[in-house]
Amino acid sequence: MPEHATSQVSRTESGVWTPRIVGFLCYWCSYTGADAAGTARMKYPGNVDIIRVMCSGRVDPELITTAFSRGADGVLVCGCHIGDCHYINGNHKTMARMPLIRKVIEGMGIEPDRFRHEWVSAAEGEKFKEVVTDMTAKVTALGPLNWPQLMYDRGVGHGHDLKPWGE
Ligand code: FES
Repeated sequence: MPEHATSQVSRTESGVWTPRIVGFLCYWCSYTGADAAGTARMKYPGNVDIIRVMCSGRVDPELITTAFSRGADGVLVCGCHIGDCHYINGNHKTMARMPLIRKVIEGMGIEPDRFRHEWVSAAEGEKFKEVVTDMTAKVTALGPLNWPQLMYDRGVGHGHDLKPWGE
């Protein structure tokens, strides 16, 4: 097996595997909601690596597939509720795109529970906590995705070799 195909991308804490979930959160509502959960000292799994974007409408499909192809076990997209987007209709694009993205990634062999889209307002720290807790449990039950290896085994992709990405 090539060296680059064996690298471990998920986390291990105390020898126990835990998933890596990439969370794209819009700045105005969902990121503030996550912040509210932290400020209120709510306890939830620390498995989500948060990437702050200005609007959930900014999250194009390539960002999601790139996260999976770079080793994420799950991807979460959160934005303002419909009617609350600070760019008026950015989340209308999100609402239209997410079901399509779900179909595409399922077609690529990624289980549905590995991808989640939620509306989380700045005041919904509790909801953010519940979403992260539930998603982490579901992705943990599925186990590591290791999509780069999966694609490599199928004869496509570059495994964990990041040279094609310029790294
Ligand atoms: S600013 Fe939050 S979804 Fe557009």
